[in-house]
Amino acid sequence: MHFLGVLLSGRGSNFVAIADSIDAGRIPNARIAAVISNVPDAAGIKIARERGLTALVIPSRGRPRAEQEREVAAALQQYNVHLICLAGYMRLLSPWFVKQFPQRILNIHPSLLPAFPGLEAQEQAFVYGVKISGCTVHFVDEELDHGPIIVQKAVQVLDTDDEHTLAARILEQEHIAYSEAINIVLGRQFDIVGRRLRPRTEPL
Ligand code: GAR
Repeated sequence: MHFLGVLLSGRGSNFVAIADSIDAGRIPNARIAAVISNVPDAAGIKIARERGLTALVIPSRGRPRAEQEREVAAALQQYNVHLICLAGYMRLLSPWFVKQFPQRILNIHPSLLPAFPGLEAQEQAFVYGVKISGCTVHFVDEELDHGPIIVQKAVQVLDTDDEHTLAARILEQEHIAYSEAINIVLGRQFDIVGRRLRPRTEPL
């Protein structure tokens, strides 16, 4: 059984998509062992409780980063989490935290990286005038929105779009992409060569 930990700060729709995929058997042999929010009133944490999942608030506001991260890492270890899914966790993780979980932290970002890292990526893409945007699920490394890419989904920008309609269509793809990426990572049938995930070919 694979124990997942979900870190979130807000709405939690990606968390719900992951939980639904697990419940529907689309991510086999997995369960969400803990949902952790750095924001006390995050909607996602309420949903996690309603679903009967272990839901913890470990506030970040007004605290030293290292102290909050040590608490998060300890909780993840306590619940035997071996794959961490950042799902709208709006906090940059320190190199120390990343080192605690090598190749075990995933993030979803609402653009086709390396374009438009950082905040409000959908709006950045819309304002820039790109014709195609999308989302990216990637391993987390020490840099913001940066590690090796696992799954990307493209979304066309329509003439009738504004940043909100574009963000909504990207979000639909995020919900599909995250479960796909989790399955790829749990399947472990790849090597990471440079930044590239290279499928492992089975010996004959
Ligand atoms: C999602 O669009 C996610 O891609 C984005 O925050 C939103 C969270 O929504 N993450 C980032 O921008 C990370 N850089 P959710 O709480 O409904 O999953």
